[in-house]
Amino acid sequence: MNTPWWERTDLRYRRGRLHLGTHDLANLARSAGTGTPVYAYHAPRIAANFRRLRRALAAAVRQSRVFYAMKSNRFVPLLGVLCGAGAGVDVCSPEELLLARQTGFREDQISFTGTSLSEDDARVLARHPGVILNCDSLASLRRIARLAPGRSVGLRINPGLGLGYRSNRLLRYAGGDVTKFGIYAEQFPVALALAREAGLRVNGLHFHTGCGFLTPQLPVLDRIFARVRDFIRQAPPLDYVNLGGGLGIPLTASDAPLDLARWSAVVRKHFGRDRFTVCVEPGDYLVKDSGVLLLEVNTVEEKAGTRFVGVNGGFNIHIEPAFYELPLEPVPVVAAAASAPTRRVTIAGNINEALDIWARNVRLPRLAEGDVLAFLNAGGYGAAMSSQHCLRGAFREYLLP
Ligand SMILES: Cc1ncc(COP(=O)(O)O)c(C=O)c1O
Repeated sequence: MNTPWWERTDLRYRRGRLHLGTHDLANLARSAGTGTPVYAYHAPRIAANFRRLRRALAAAVRQSRVFYAMKSNRFVPLLGVLCGAGAGVDVCSPEELLLARQTGFREDQISFTGTSLSEDDARVLARHPGVILNCDSLASLRRIARLAPGRSVGLRINPGLGLGYRSNRLLRYAGGDVTKFGIYAEQFPVALALAREAGLRVNGLHFHTGCGFLTPQLPVLDRIFARVRDFIRQAPPLDYVNLGGGLGIPLTASDAPLDLARWSAVVRKHFGRDRFTVCVEPGDYLVKDSGVLLLEVNTVEEKAGTRFVGVNGGFNIHIEPAFYELPLEPVPVVAAAASAPTRRVTIAGNINEALDIWARNVRLPRLAEGDVLAFLNAGGYGAAMSSQHCLRGAFREYLLP
């Protein structure tokens, strides 16, 4: 049998059963009880992803820090792995900020990059003076000046150019259509003047321009960094520049892993000589390929020429395939014989919405009710974005050692 492309991660068939690290996923699904979807995350993979990225960034610049974007997965044991490994954490709401503190992150290990900041949000920030704060609008600057006078602030900027997984427009945070994120070039002098007059010290710049980029998108990142230099030239002396997240991982057989050495070279080209600390704040890169979602087949039926496989979880527990057109490749947890025939199936969830499809027209060995499928690369933006739609939001999460 050919080695599947995803064996670059910690997943392997051993004696015909899919393992995440040393853990047999069929056993895990069974022991978790029936009827409950299961997320499993492999702690060693998360720690390894973090160390690999930290090394690549440290090799590019004089001073660096890696913050983990909590919005991608806030499972507390997983946060503990990253905290223990020495990561900082980026939060985007007061509740995420409090969860970071509860998990063991010190204030100075937390950065806050929110949007549409309210009075209540600003009051929570005022009670956490050690948290690094990035403001993404003039309105939030005014609010912080009033409720947390004298505070140091970073400005989230919008360089007017974005990138994302392949040509997926749904994942771009800048460029193309106008987005709500960040302070645009024409607003930037106004923001600097406003901060100065309000007694706020601007000590950092932050930008996040899209999600899921791989090596083919690095030339765009190079152009984004060049635009950021224009902002840096206008800014007062800075303590940090945060390059955001967005580093992607392979999602299909035709994706190659992001070439971190080339990414590092692009970072070095633009920021290698700066004295400020260069930060990144990825979510997916650290956690996505550590996780699988296990769902049980409950229906196999031909309808109008399409063979549907129904499973016990829907888009409300992982929205990426339905909402962002991002693939989560399904793999049986018990391997079929290498010679077993495959057939094309469409995998559907258990939510009464037409877009509740996990995968269309994918080739899989024969499936029967009771079989379990592992959806790969489910560690980011799955559990964290889940909802109770149709009151079918229950799942269990495991951090595997
Ligand atoms: C401000 C900010 N930083 C970091 C991230 C993390 O992005 P990713 O998981 O693609 O690395 C996001 C994602 O939405 C974001 O909005």
